[in-house]
Amino acid sequence: MAPKILPLWGRWPRGPEGAGAALDLGAHARPRHGRRPYREPPMVHPVFADLPVTVFEEMSGLARELGAINLGQGFPDDQGPIALRRKAGEALIEGSNQYPPMRGLPQLRQAVAGHYGRTQGLDLDPDREIIVTSGATEALAAAFLSLISPGDEVVLFQPLYDAYLPMVRRAGGVPRLVRLTPPHWRFDQAMLEAVFSEKTKLVVLNSPLNPAGVVTPDEDLALLAEFCVRFDATAVCDEVWEAVVFDGRAHRPLMTFPGMHERTVKIGSAGKMFGMTGWKVGFLCAAPPLARALASAHQFLTFTTPPNLQAAVAFGLEEPGDWFTAMPAGLQRSRDRLAAGLREAGFAVLDSGGTYFLNVDLTASGIDEPDRAFALRAVREHGVAAIPVSAFYAEDAVTNVLRLCFAKADDVLDAAVERLARAK
Ligand SMILES: Cc1ncc(COP(=O)(O)O)c(C=O)c1O
Repeated sequence: MAPKILPLWGRWPRGPEGAGAALDLGAHARPRHGRRPYREPPMVHPVFADLPVTVFEEMSGLARELGAINLGQGFPDDQGPIALRRKAGEALIEGSNQYPPMRGLPQLRQAVAGHYGRTQGLDLDPDREIIVTSGATEALAAAFLSLISPGDEVVLFQPLYDAYLPMVRRAGGVPRLVRLTPPHWRFDQAMLEAVFSEKTKLVVLNSPLNPAGVVTPDEDLALLAEFCVRFDATAVCDEVWEAVVFDGRAHRPLMTFPGMHERTVKIGSAGKMFGMTGWKVGFLCAAPPLARALASAHQFLTFTTPPNLQAAVAFGLEEPGDWFTAMPAGLQRSRDRLAAGLREAGFAVLDSGGTYFLNVDLTASGIDEPDRAFALRAVREHGVAAIPVSAFYAEDAVTNVLRLCFAKADDVLDAAVERLARAK
């Protein structure tokens, strides 16, 4: 029989379960009817051999399966600025769809330099200090692969974004973990003294911090900068939430502290800046010698990023209108709405100075149940998905905090509060 060819303008057939089917990772390994079972792959790297599906996938999967409200995974309900989406569409039809330059469209690199100059006081050379990547995730991978040699020690702060540890370990790094705790999630001199040594090669800082929603205070940044200089360590700064800060706060990059420009890799994400998390356009900013190393890894990871999305992001950064004030103002309003509803329902809510996330202290709310158990009960029995913050710890987890995403429509937030009140 001739192979069935799908027309280019057609739709791929979908299983009866729709997109949710993609989540059943087991399906890929299951033999088709009548075939011998597949054998275990013989040489999976130990870092990835038993890695479970992320908690975000797990909770979003349950939310889809059960028709629950999803305040788990961090993505907005809103589809993002229409002007940028139009630009991307125009660029797709009228612009080039061939490989753009490896370091990114010159127009986008200039727009990134201009944006960071205006908003964060950075002086970046678009040709030598900026590389466009396929999201912050690729930027992180390029940084870890190019800067870590086997045995190098890497200082990381828990709670940590789930991609860090597997990638650091795969690159051969030896993690040295600092444990941050609520309500302030701050570090101090003694905590840094305990992990920094002559073997420290890198430190990974995420500020504003997902999941805690805190913006690292200047005093703590200054302390960390001192340690980086003293131990000749490089800082990988995951600043994807830099544009999402509230209550008049300003994001201050570690790169601006004395001695840090030459030893910092600053990572940004247009997906977060413009609330279009699927776009996966990120930026690496670093002094030229570091940027050369980062580019060497980037060229063999993805090499480039879709040119139409790059063009649209350049447009958004060059002509943002009031986006960078209106967007955080709208989110701040949503944060306040969710916080007020939760407080009224008797929950103890922690401060959120940035990101899409608000945290609830379960113990202080009178709930004597670990975060994961509460989250599973909330999604299964009450139809609202959230993320247990313990999932962001590799060891000695904080187990009484629940993360909720407030980048949602008012009625969704209100309904979620009602359901959470019942779960309480
Ligand atoms: C702290 C942090 N780093 C990196 C990422 C990934 O960013 P991107 O989607 O640009 O790869 C996220 C996404 O939520 C994040 O919260």
